[in-house]
Amino acid sequence: MTILIEQPALELQVEGNNVHAEETNELVLEGGFPLPKDGYMAPEINSFGHSFREYDAESERQKGVEEFYRLQHINQTYDFVKRMREEYGKLDKAEMGIWECCELLNELVDESDPDLDEPQIQHLLQSAETIRKDYPNEDWLHLTALIHDLGKILALPSFGELPQWAVVGDTFPLGCAFDESNVHHKYFKDNPDYKCPAYSTKNGIYTEGCGLDNIVMSWGHDDYMYMVAKANGTTLPSAGLFIIRYHSFYPLHKEGAYTHFMNEEDVENLKWLKIFNKYDLYSKSKVLVDVEKVKPYYVSLIEKYFPAKVRW
Ligand SMILES: [Fe+2]
Ligand SMILES: [Fe+2]
Repeated sequence: MTILIEQPALELQVEGNNVHAEETNELVLEGGFPLPKDGYMAPEINSFGHSFREYDAESERQKGVEEFYRLQHINQTYDFVKRMREEYGKLDKAEMGIWECCELLNELVDESDPDLDEPQIQHLLQSAETIRKDYPNEDWLHLTALIHDLGKILALPSFGELPQWAVVGDTFPLGCAFDESNVHHKYFKDNPDYKCPAYSTKNGIYTEGCGLDNIVMSWGHDDYMYMVAKANGTTLPSAGLFIIRYHSFYPLHKEGAYTHFMNEEDVENLKWLKIFNKYDLYSKSKVLVDVEKVKPYYVSLIEKYFPAKVRW
């Protein structure tokens, strides 16, 4: 199965279905969300010379990515996620500021990501700086971009050194049927939940419109960072928290699966997530951001939206 983003040759093309040209020739996201006219130009290929999120391309790295998803799909079960949420909900692993965490993450490279081999801090700053250019007044969005991947510290020894399949990769709900739009769906058949009757229907243990907040998602850096931000009393708006929590939920925001669980607030927040995703995906590049130069701006945002010391 190939999850191939249509070649982003068109300026501002996000996902084929979600962008349409108005008569004015202005691109508008579904739901009337305008994209800035002179906005960000998405590149056509990633730093390895492939289309973005091209999971079937012949390469060493692709084989690694497929093996990664095999392990992820077998091991992420409802019970596993419950255990992880309980363990990491204690927030007893460390106490440090948000910027300190950005620096800590710098050693990590994400194996599940076919597009990127730069240090994580560059990915954080590249997404934040690119989105800042197009949405200069939405400072919460700049900070959201900066911190959206901080949960990847789960892979570091002092945070439990979780295997990559419990840290990164696309996320999906547990407790209901695995939608076919999940990348490498075939490997779910070896997941113990696959054979559990209660989890095998479209709604599973949930009800339609129950709200994503009530859905148990596969465990990884998204949910962990959401937990951390929320428990430490961040003042980021609901859309920022939604982006952090669901940015790897590609079956929802790219494929439109699982939307029957959304409530009205989710529908509103999803518009921002779709905007954010373009920057998360396409701003990965070899052009490095000067960390020291932009640091004062981001430190000021951290002070605005987070306490000085955060429990992790
Ligand atoms: Fe991420
Ligand atoms: Fe990211």
